[in-house]
Amino acid sequence: MPLNPWITLFSFLAIILPLLNPFVAFAVNQQGEALLLWKQSLNGPTEALSNWNPTDETPCGWLGITCNINKEVVELELRYLSLYGTVPTNLSSLVSLTKVVLSSTNLTGSVPREIAILHELNYLDLSDNALIGEIPSEICNLLKLQEIYLDSNQLEGSIPVQIGNLTSLKWLTLYDNQLNGEIPNTIGNLKNLQVIRVGKNKNLKGLIPREIRNCTELTQLGLAETSVSGQIPLEICNLLKLQEINFFSSQLEGSIPAQIGNLTSLKWLTLNDNQLNGEIPNTIGNLKNLQVIRVGQNKNLGGLIPREIGNCTELTILGLAKTSVWGFLPPSLGHLKKLKTIFAYTTLLSGQIPPELGDCTALQDIYLQNNSLTGSIPKEISGCRNLTYLLLNSNLINGKVPGELSHLVSLHFVNFSDNLIEGTLPFPVLPLHMVFFSISSNNFSGEIPSSICNLNFIKYLDFSHNHFSMIPPCLGNMSDYLIDLDLGNNNFQGTIPKFVKCNNLRSLKLTGNQLEGPMPHSLVNCKKLEILDFANNKVNDTFPHWLVNLPELQVLSLRSNNFHGSIGNHKTKFSFPNLRIIDLSHNMFHGHLPSNFFKYLTAMMNGNMDEGGLQYMGDDYYYDSVTIDIKGNYINVEKIQTLLTIIDISNNSFKGEIPKVIGNLGLLKGLNFSHNNLMGHIPISFRNLTNLECLDLSSNKLTGNIPIQLTDLTSLEILNLSKNHLVGLIPQGKQFNTFTSASYSGNLGLCGFPLTKTCGNDEGQQPPPAPTIQEDDFGFANGFHWKVVLLGYGCGFMFGLCMGYLVFSSEKPKYLLNIVYGEQRNKVRRLKNNAHGRIN
Ligand SMILES: *[C@@H]1O[C@H](CO)[C@@H](O)[C@H](O)[C@H]1NC(C)=O
Ligand SMILES: *[C@@H]1O[C@H](CO)[C@@H](O)[C@H](O)[C@H]1NC(C)=O
Ligand SMILES: *[C@@H]1O[C@H](CO)[C@@H](O)[C@H](O)[C@H]1NC(C)=O
Ligand SMILES: *[C@@H]1O[C@H](CO)[C@@H](O)[C@H](O)[C@H]1NC(C)=O
Ligand SMILES: *[C@@H]1O[C@H](CO)[C@@H](O)[C@H](O)[C@H]1NC(C)=O
Ligand SMILES: *[C@@H]1O[C@H](CO)[C@@H](O)[C@H](O)[C@H]1NC(C)=O
Ligand SMILES: *[C@@H]1O[C@H](CO)[C@@H](O)[C@H](O)[C@H]1NC(C)=O
Ligand SMILES: *[C@@H]1O[C@H](CO)[C@@H](O)[C@H](O)[C@H]1NC(C)=O
Ligand SMILES: *[C@@H]1O[C@H](CO)[C@@H](O)[C@H](O)[C@H]1NC(C)=O
Ligand SMILES: *[C@@H]1O[C@H](CO)[C@@H](O)[C@H](O)[C@H]1NC(C)=O
Ligand SMILES: *[C@@H]1O[C@H](CO)[C@@H](O)[C@H](O)[C@H]1NC(C)=O
Ligand SMILES: *[C@@H]1O[C@H](CO)[C@@H](O)[C@H](O)[C@H]1NC(C)=O
Repeated sequence: MPLNPWITLFSFLAIILPLLNPFVAFAVNQQGEALLLWKQSLNGPTEALSNWNPTDETPCGWLGITCNINKEVVELELRYLSLYGTVPTNLSSLVSLTKVVLSSTNLTGSVPREIAILHELNYLDLSDNALIGEIPSEICNLLKLQEIYLDSNQLEGSIPVQIGNLTSLKWLTLYDNQLNGEIPNTIGNLKNLQVIRVGKNKNLKGLIPREIRNCTELTQLGLAETSVSGQIPLEICNLLKLQEINFFSSQLEGSIPAQIGNLTSLKWLTLNDNQLNGEIPNTIGNLKNLQVIRVGQNKNLGGLIPREIGNCTELTILGLAKTSVWGFLPPSLGHLKKLKTIFAYTTLLSGQIPPELGDCTALQDIYLQNNSLTGSIPKEISGCRNLTYLLLNSNLINGKVPGELSHLVSLHFVNFSDNLIEGTLPFPVLPLHMVFFSISSNNFSGEIPSSICNLNFIKYLDFSHNHFSMIPPCLGNMSDYLIDLDLGNNNFQGTIPKFVKCNNLRSLKLTGNQLEGPMPHSLVNCKKLEILDFANNKVNDTFPHWLVNLPELQVLSLRSNNFHGSIGNHKTKFSFPNLRIIDLSHNMFHGHLPSNFFKYLTAMMNGNMDEGGLQYMGDDYYYDSVTIDIKGNYINVEKIQTLLTIIDISNNSFKGEIPKVIGNLGLLKGLNFSHNNLMGHIPISFRNLTNLECLDLSSNKLTGNIPIQLTDLTSLEILNLSKNHLVGLIPQGKQFNTFTSASYSGNLGLCGFPLTKTCGNDEGQQPPPAPTIQEDDFGFANGFHWKVVLLGYGCGFMFGLCMGYLVFSSEKPKYLLNIVYGEQRNKVRRLKNNAHGRIN
């Protein structure tokens, strides 16, 4: 039977025409046609929507399309695709739609008003796109809507008041947008509402409307990270089906209503980071289903921790940090067999850690630092078999560390720093998975057990500020993961151990001991060393030239030891490309200062500063109290700003001239050559040290004039040229008007302001111009009583010697998270700018 040529031609055309020009001919029905037109408007769907075939009779078999029995499209459901287009607007053929899901599909544009013609719609999910504009009020005409998901977009404007018309609505999620205005009280009409989540809209403000009392079906109420203010309305306590209340990081004030205890279905209560006051009501003991309670960061929330909390036996997280709760930790906590995490740092808690805490067998994280806890660490804690984080630092804990802690095999992170703990470290075997272990600033004594060397995963080890006396020789051969080792300020004697395994060691601090002998050459194995601090010991050695093999070295302090000999001559190779802080002061070095020593300090030269803002040394192990529940974020207190560049070779016996090349170190902030036997002139090249804030050349044998060019050093805050043989007129103007006579004393040949001695010509006798810099409350213009609060490094180096603020002394360091230097610097800047008549 011959084929009908017409039929053949027709089928051929039916296939080929749409492919040639899909606008011309669709075989598919009108709904399919509308969908295809939308597909054509997209920029990204080629692969994803490949089965949207124009030759199909209906779109019913297409990806993401569901039809009813009449072959009408009722559902359009696409997720996790890169469609790169807009929400369809030409919906006239698709009015049967009951469900539209286009979430995580990279859509842009706005929520189209045209959606209002989808009268059958009961489910709309456009979440996680890049939609902008307002929520069209027309959406509120869709009276069958039950679920609306518009979260995680960039929607603006306010929540339409007409939302109250959607009386069928059960779910409303609008979080993570840029909505503003207030929550309309018409939500009181939404009697079927089960979930409302409007958090993470930081401009959403106003009160929580009391009309919410009508939403008796509500199970989830999310208003976190908004600017919603006022009190927690009592009406909420009537919503007996509530399971989750998320109000964290908003502006709520007033107290937590006692009636909250009526919400016996409640599982989550997060009220942290508000301005709540009063006390935690003891009615929370009624909340038998409560899993999470977080009320931290409400600094006026006080009172005792109610012992009834022990009745919340489902509790896994208890968050009380940064509140004013006081008194004891209630022993009833021991009933909480599911408790995993206690955040109770920085409160007013006192008394002993209850031994009952050891009954919380599921406990993983104990954050009790920065309180006034006393007594010793109860050995019962070892009952918390899964304990991982144990932070008890900055308390008044005394006694000895119970040996039972070694049973805690999961323990990773221990900070007992800044307490009154004494005795030896008792562990026969320390928990082997330890990563961070700090017991600094206590009263430990005796030997460090050599079992410490078995900690195969240890990265941070801090024994500083104790009375330990023996370094186990194996210490140089421990975990190759070790990053920071601080043994500073103890009574360690003997020689420094050999370092063999130290591939990741970044910082080695041995400061303030009685270590003697030479510096171990084995340190050349530690290729990642950035900080090497041997200050205040009895190391007897010549200058360690072999350090040039440590390319990452940034901080080198050999201060106050028995180093001797010359540091090298013009043939010596000094390659310290990253060194920014050099302290050789208080030793017995002698000989000339070779130019070469300064020639390759490239990190101190202009053009090598990261202009992108302040950087801190070390890895980014910061501990942000706001995002406290992100594990593994350790505090790194000793932030050393990488902008600090300092050379201190004071109190040695260096002789000869000051090398001119120092003028190339344009990033230098501090230079201290005082108390040596340096001769010759102050190099004019110093004019190029435009970042210099502190210059001390005192107690040398310098001759000649003070170069007038030094008046270009507009950053200079501290100048000490006293006790030299300088002569002539002291340069006048700019910064120089701020220095007092103390800067020049003991130079018999100097004259002019601020000295009383005149120069014998008119110039020098002129009274100085009125000071352009007003002394402010930092006493700055007066020079030397600028208070710098110093910590760890920065300190000793920053202005330490220039100003007589030695900090490596025996005093317990005060740990501060904020490096004050940064703040001071800004103040100085401001001062300086004002002096130039500028305002910033
Ligand atoms: C809307 O889609 C229909 C087909 O469903 C089409 O005929 C009409 O031209 C489209 N209108 C616009 C403005 O694109
Ligand atoms: C959306 O686009 C971004 C950038 O093009 C892409 O990284 C992301 O994976 C896309 N998202 C989805 C769900 O395809
Ligand atoms: C919709 O809500 C507005 C404002 O709440 C109200 O004035 C209007 O009468 C409502 N319309 C319908 C149809 O319910
Ligand atoms: C709350 O419900 C009551 C009783 O059902 C009703 O009278 C009142 O109008 C409702 N309030 C709002 C704001 O819808
Ligand atoms: C709600 O709590 C208050 C105070 O805790 C209590 O007096 C009251 O009886 C409770 N109401 C209901 C309905 O449980
Ligand atoms: C609740 O806690 C209190 C105080 O801890 C206790 O006396 C009481 O028995 C507990 N009630 C229940 C029902 O567990
Ligand atoms: C420790 O607590 C005090 C007040 O109790 C507070 O000022 C300080 O910021 C806290 N320190 C840290 C590191 O949180
Ligand atoms: C300890 O952790 C393990 C693994 O997560 C878990 O199976 C076990 O139940 C936990 N122990 C307790 C007492 O919670
Ligand atoms: C430290 O321990 C010693 C004994 O080892 C003791 O004499 C001294 O009082 C303790 N210091 C403090 C501050 O507890
Ligand atoms: C340093 O060591 C040498 C011998 O190695 C010795 O002669 C000298 O006395 C020592 N210096 C000090 C200050 O201990
Ligand atoms: C350890 O405790 C000290 C003293 O409170 C604190 O300064 C330091 O930041 C803590 N370190 C970590 C990583 O928790
Ligand atoms: C100082 O810097 C200028 C340019 O910034 C340069 O021309 C000059 O040679 C430098 N002077 C000295 C002494 O290094």
